[in-house]
Amino acid sequence: MNVTVAGLGYVGLVTSAGLAAWGHQVTGVDASSSRLQILASGALPFFEPGLDELVTSTAKVDRLHFTDASSEAMAGADVVFTAVGTHDGNGGWQTAAMDTCLNQVVPHLRDDAVLVVRSTLPPEYVRSLGAMVASLRNDLGRPMIPVLLNPEFTREGRAVADFMHPDRIVFGIVHDPDGTGQALLRAVYGLANAPVLCMPAMDAAFAKLGANLFLATKISFANELAGLCEANGAVVDNVVEAMSYDTRIGGQFLRPGVGFGGSCLPHQVSMTVKSASMAGVPSPLLAAVWEVNQAQRELFVTRLADLLGGLPGRRIALLGLAFKPDTDDLRDAPSLSIARRLLDGGAEILAYDPMPNARQRAAALTPGLRVADSAAEALAGADAAALVTEWPEFSRLDWALLGSRMRRRIVLDGRNALDPDGVTAAGLEYVAFGRGGVPRERAVVHGGFDAESSLGTQPIPSYPNS
Ligand code: UDX
Repeated sequence: MNVTVAGLGYVGLVTSAGLAAWGHQVTGVDASSSRLQILASGALPFFEPGLDELVTSTAKVDRLHFTDASSEAMAGADVVFTAVGTHDGNGGWQTAAMDTCLNQVVPHLRDDAVLVVRSTLPPEYVRSLGAMVASLRNDLGRPMIPVLLNPEFTREGRAVADFMHPDRIVFGIVHDPDGTGQALLRAVYGLANAPVLCMPAMDAAFAKLGANLFLATKISFANELAGLCEANGAVVDNVVEAMSYDTRIGGQFLRPGVGFGGSCLPHQVSMTVKSASMAGVPSPLLAAVWEVNQAQRELFVTRLADLLGGLPGRRIALLGLAFKPDTDDLRDAPSLSIARRLLDGGAEILAYDPMPNARQRAAALTPGLRVADSAAEALAGADAAALVTEWPEFSRLDWALLGSRMRRRIVLDGRNALDPDGVTAAGLEYVAFGRGGVPRERAVVHGGFDAESSLGTQPIPSYPNS
């Protein structure tokens, strides 16, 4: 099948390469000439494990091409996926790119083509999508075409595996009166071994939103639980392990620490709370999820200040910059907001992340942040190690050796990623979240949600613009 994918970011590029790997003839289109140049040179515009090999192997057998010639690519397509970004990088939606994309794509589509929207859209956009496409077709005197949503559930760092082996595939029907769109899309995904769930468009949009909101809720729950464990002398790891055997609960997304970052979870929680507030729909649980997540970043900074007896003049080795391992993505990375708070408090920071690209961009985005070429360099002479991203290499560090080169032997583990016994045995003071080691007076339990306050008076802080 001839497939065109408009927008070659994380979602679009993974979709393009994955569909090409399944044997489709794929043309990837992007408005950014620099992104196309990078792809033409055989490189990728971002790091994603396994994607390089998939793009290279499918391009080699001529099943994957990239172009800016969108009208030609659209005219030849049986199916067109749109995968443009809808996040404004500052905690809000931006749908201008989606408008532009529809204007460029829809008029050129064959009358028997199917339009599939993979971008995550705000509910009001989902509501108007069918009418927008119909109007663009009507202006040219051309018939309406099937339009479907196909939300993605890919995690950065595992995007290729998530695409090739999905848990489920969701179709949301915007316009498909005789089912031809659904049939064609089922054929596109013919090689995916997963249940296909077909539902109205708004349900599909909320299926995506609901999954992310629930994951964020689990993380904030784990963080609140960690505070309760700390206050009562329990170890959260044991508590979560015991809980995880209950199949109704499971063990994933219950790791406490500095909280969730990235392009999806924070944005979707804050935007949902904002939209719910504007629509007069109560969402106290999600407001609390947001509040707990922000508080974790604050708690990390105050905990470090406590351990060091103040921040001014202290040298901190910040371990990790990307919002999670296996990516170089800094979008709403906890590292950056924590670094800004530490620098504002008078600390010096020497940061290290295994991704050179993340190091360079973090330094460019954060005045005063210096970066090192290795964890050992960051730790030498430091007053504390502050781990904010659980890269596996940090678990393999020789703490006895590296601790001997630190000015003070303090480790604050913001991801509960290190072995507490190993670090302590190496002669360092180890503090994390809900794992003991925090004197009782320093333990923090989050305040409750103020049921009396209206959501309109609950400010949602803006994100660092990364
Ligand atoms: C998320 C969803 O998982 C994915 O399904 C969706 O399509 C896009 O959003 P992603 O943003 O790539 O994926 O990251 P994810 O693995 O979900 O992690 C998000 C954040 O939560 C990271 O900062 C991570 O460190 C944090 N996290 C995760 C925790 O703090 N604790 C956990 O137990 C799990």
